[in-house]
Amino acid sequence: MNKRTRLIFLGLSLIVLISVGYYVTNDFNFLLNDFWFTSGFLLLILLSLIDQPHFSKDSNVFINAVTAGISLLLVPEEFRNWIFYIFLGLTFYLSISSYSLMWVRNKELSYENKFVQFLSKINREIGKPQTMFSAFFLWGALNKFGVNSNGFNTLLLYWVVFMILNLPSLAKIINSLFEKSEIKKQDSAIGTIFGVQSKNTFLVKLFSDRKETIKLFDFVEFKYSIDEKKQIRKGMILDTYLLNEQQWVKVLTTSEINNIFENKQIFDNHTEDTIYKIQNVPDNKYLDTFAGIVTENSTIGKVRFIYNSKATIQEGQLLEIKVGIEKKSAFYQIVEGITKIQQLENKNESALIIGEAIQLGTWNQEKVRFEQFGWVPEINSPVYITSNIPEVKILDGELKIGQIPNTNFPVIINKELALTHHTAVLGVTGTGKSVFSRNLIREHLKEEKVKVICIDFTGEYKNKFNDLNPIDVISSEIANKIFKDIDEIEMAVSKNYGKDSDATILKRKEIASIMHVEISNFMKNPDAKISLFELPDVNNTSGILEYTRLFFKILFHIAKTKKSFGNKVCLVLEEAHTIIPEWNFVGIADKSSQSLLNSIAQIALQGRKYDVGLLVIAQRTANVSKTVLTQCNTIISFQEFDKTSSEFLANYFGQGIANILPNLKFRQAIVAGKALKSNVPMIFEVPIIEEPEVDGILEAEEQIKEKMEEKKDTFEE
Ligand SMILES: Nc1ncnc2c1ncn2[C@@H]1O[C@H](COP(=O)(O)OP(=O)(O)OP(=O)(O)O)[C@@H](O)[C@H]1O
Ligand SMILES: [Mg+2]
Repeated sequence: MNKRTRLIFLGLSLIVLISVGYYVTNDFNFLLNDFWFTSGFLLLILLSLIDQPHFSKDSNVFINAVTAGISLLLVPEEFRNWIFYIFLGLTFYLSISSYSLMWVRNKELSYENKFVQFLSKINREIGKPQTMFSAFFLWGALNKFGVNSNGFNTLLLYWVVFMILNLPSLAKIINSLFEKSEIKKQDSAIGTIFGVQSKNTFLVKLFSDRKETIKLFDFVEFKYSIDEKKQIRKGMILDTYLLNEQQWVKVLTTSEINNIFENKQIFDNHTEDTIYKIQNVPDNKYLDTFAGIVTENSTIGKVRFIYNSKATIQEGQLLEIKVGIEKKSAFYQIVEGITKIQQLENKNESALIIGEAIQLGTWNQEKVRFEQFGWVPEINSPVYITSNIPEVKILDGELKIGQIPNTNFPVIINKELALTHHTAVLGVTGTGKSVFSRNLIREHLKEEKVKVICIDFTGEYKNKFNDLNPIDVISSEIANKIFKDIDEIEMAVSKNYGKDSDATILKRKEIASIMHVEISNFMKNPDAKISLFELPDVNNTSGILEYTRLFFKILFHIAKTKKSFGNKVCLVLEEAHTIIPEWNFVGIADKSSQSLLNSIAQIALQGRKYDVGLLVIAQRTANVSKTVLTQCNTIISFQEFDKTSSEFLANYFGQGIANILPNLKFRQAIVAGKALKSNVPMIFEVPIIEEPEVDGILEAEEQIKEKMEEKKDTFEE
């Protein structure tokens, strides 16, 4: 029985006793003068006190006996008969003997000698309030009212009810009305704190006799004794282990967990450092976004966290962690997951997954970009899966090339910088380079004064850009003539021991001026926006290379001298290794190939000054000229496997994120560089791009059919 129960019990019984007394005597004098009342009253008090554990049994009897003896003195002279003296003798005996026992005894009763045990047990039987005061009460009532009186019967009834009806348990029931939360709280207590890690993570030893079962991600409430403010904290069970045959749990506290409960207190009168399990948790999405906690060896650029979540995450996933004193939201993108085994005591071990995520920075919603944050999150900071942000506005001259996987964070580039400062699109076959690049080209073409020239020997672009009516910069007729001239020059030069003669020089000048006119016309023509650089159907490789070289040389010359007549020019090099191969992939003797490369390298090095930009598309970096690639200020890389590419890109993107190149999924890429609005490499996802319907293939088929018909006709004739 606890204090309150005892008090309720006492009050309840006393009220009944006084009411009964008043009923039988019709006044309140009995409160002071009647022995039956005094003894009954003591019966109540002592019964309600008797189960106090700190009273030793002998001292209990002693006090009962002394009080009983004093109360007997209330009995008036005329009632002091032989029974009275027996009672008095008894109280005398009890007080002396139990007091002596208190002195004599110094061991547990069962270890005392037989005589002491016997005496003590007898004393307790006689000296307990039920026995002693019941006898007094009944004797007193009988003396006062007589056997057959109404008063005696009523008091007898009271005594019967009091002794038999077990008022203490009734009091307990009444008390439970008041104590509902108290009892519940005690049942909810599951363990005590014995350690704390970096302020927000608590180690708890569970009670072995706890009434509640404990699972991961259960919520708890507690008050921490060391905490100066003594605030009530809410936490979540993050981990459970068995150590030294005891069950331990780790409890994480965060302000977000407090928010689930709207900062309401669930239990009252917490025992400090005791953890209480919360039963009814309001609906919340906390566990859908909780990914884990930051762990050791995190750096400003890359955090490491223990994955501990009900949610699935994967590479590319954006995470949010509160950093710094102001608890700013910083964003990190997952690049790695590592399994680990942690050795605990006694050969116990626990398995962990450590995630690694690179910093993208804090999100500036106004400027629509990530901004690097210069500090590292604290150990045990909670890590959350990022939710979406409000829609953002894409400015003129900008292009959203995709978004961070599983979010709506846009990845935005500046179109002009992407064009003039050269862009490379890399990735193994089938990853979406060409589709992405053609989409980018279409976006470039939306700008005024932009000309695009595609060098595509695969023939793919011809079909895909059918709807844009691409034109030839140099008509096939003139191109054929130039080819013939180049052929002639080459022949003449080789006859002249590899030297130019006056005639060949003149011819070269002629070719140059023709090309100059043609390219200038293209630049000046407002209706001509896109051109596909086509080569005549000839087998002379060196001729083709020389022709292409001249074209670039003169194009760049026009850009330098005439500013391309006010245009920006985008040169698309599809399958770039065929046009700008790395030198060790070219035969050393192959002079024409080297000269072509040099002319493009010139554009790569200086093009941005004159608004001529390259869009380099390649499968591998290994066989593409590094002179050109290293000039690409923006790189978008889809999946890549080979070592050279990952080394090259690691230099560009940083090792952490470059490691992920082989794992990128279809339509996923890493982007970094000058054109990117956020100044940090990131993994993004290209949206599904629908290219306009192509009827080119059908047309081509149609033409072949027609030709066949014609041939058939001639044969028949
Ligand atoms: N963003 C996209 N949206 C929808 N489909 C796409 C997208 N990207 C690529 N595809 C599909 O994947 C196919 C291959 O893409 P794409 O031709 O761009 O690959 P690639 O990287 O250029 O390969 P290769 O190196 O062999 O030329 C396309 O034909 C198209 O069907
Ligand atoms: Mg392609």
